[in-house]
Amino acid sequence: MSPSTKTSRLPGFHKLPLPQRLEIVKEFAGLSDEEAKLLIAEAGLKLEVADRMVENVIGLMPLPLGVAVNFLINGKDFLVPMCIEEPSVIAAASNAARMARVKGGFKAGSTAPVMIGQIQVVDLPNPFEAMLRVLRAREEVLEAVNRKDPVLVKLGGGARDLTAKVLDTVAGYMLIVELHVDVRDAMGANVVNTMCEAAAPLIEDLTGGKVLLRILTNLATERLAWAEAVFDKEVIGGPEVVEAVLKAHAFALADPYRAATHNKGIMNGIVAVALATGNDTRALEAGAHAYAARTGRYQPLTHWWRTAEGDLAGRIELPLAVGVVGGATGVHPIAKIARKILGVTTAQELAEVMASVGLAQNFAALRALATEGIQRGHMKLHARNLAIAAGATGELIDLVARRMVEEGNIRLDRAREILEDLKTKA
Ligand code: MEV
Repeated sequence: MSPSTKTSRLPGFHKLPLPQRLEIVKEFAGLSDEEAKLLIAEAGLKLEVADRMVENVIGLMPLPLGVAVNFLINGKDFLVPMCIEEPSVIAAASNAARMARVKGGFKAGSTAPVMIGQIQVVDLPNPFEAMLRVLRAREEVLEAVNRKDPVLVKLGGGARDLTAKVLDTVAGYMLIVELHVDVRDAMGANVVNTMCEAAAPLIEDLTGGKVLLRILTNLATERLAWAEAVFDKEVIGGPEVVEAVLKAHAFALADPYRAATHNKGIMNGIVAVALATGNDTRALEAGAHAYAARTGRYQPLTHWWRTAEGDLAGRIELPLAVGVVGGATGVHPIAKIARKILGVTTAQELAEVMASVGLAQNFAALRALATEGIQRGHMKLHARNLAIAAGATGELIDLVARRMVEEGNIRLDRAREILEDLKTKA
């Protein structure tokens, strides 16, 4: 393919078998044979399975899977699988969990797994009257949607409630009908969206309006998880560290620019567990950040205070729409193994572990930031990545990384120079 004929307009691409798709991409991007081979190197996920999970698959993208150790949550020990590309995150979570153990570990809890589905009704001459008609038919609508999922109902879940609100929007008044569905151990998007679609004709009959969107909200305010922990002041470095973490928290409370990064650190841990267990990381991010802004001002998702004994106590609370059945959780072999390592059997328990990891991650970040800074530890690990990026292999990786750390000069160009030097001396 010459540069002038290079086009990304590829009709029928999705119908081609995977090897042909890869061949086209290889030619388009000028990939070497070696690069193309790497894309399809099966690392726990067979190409055949991947090809059914999403569209236009041309390969696999493996990421490191680690386990965070030391987690004691509600009196039970957990090894927490985490899939992430960023160094330091797993080490930080493990270290924070070790310190939390001293005062009994994490106490976590969660609401029932209730998701909210939204049905948008437009073209209503009197939206308030339409709202009353829907509210009066609450039982009828709930029964109708529950008939759609008898398995869920049998498992103790199903549509629990129906609420409605009239919105004054730039496109005029509209009625929003909301189904509150206990989705049990699923993430719930499919269950809720199916129910919303099933309810639509009935809602149109009741209101005389037209239904447009039928979709769950990721602002899952009825599916919250929380965790608390006390960190012994001496174990974490003394009363000055308690004070420093409280000041770091105050910064996040006062400034959305800081709160965004504070919450990003929390999501480092939560998303890594989500990815490892085959959960929808984007749904979690959307829910967490929208929840952080629910008062109209973007806030940190954790709160920190000093106990009467002078120790540091923290609490996290956020929506966590995660499942242990359905979607990739039941298809991806590594996700299944990750869940086995974690040993959770319900979505609520998984959410409680994730909340604990989020709190641990935040504690570790604040403690590091408010004391020695994160760069020393981070750059040590980063040095190894740079050594690999510079082309080091085997024992050269550590040799190059160590030299950069000793010099306090951790950069890709320096890694290349050191590697050259080591190779010429070898
Ligand atoms: C880096 O991935 C996460 C931190 O920036 C979190 C924070 O600032 O609290 C260290």
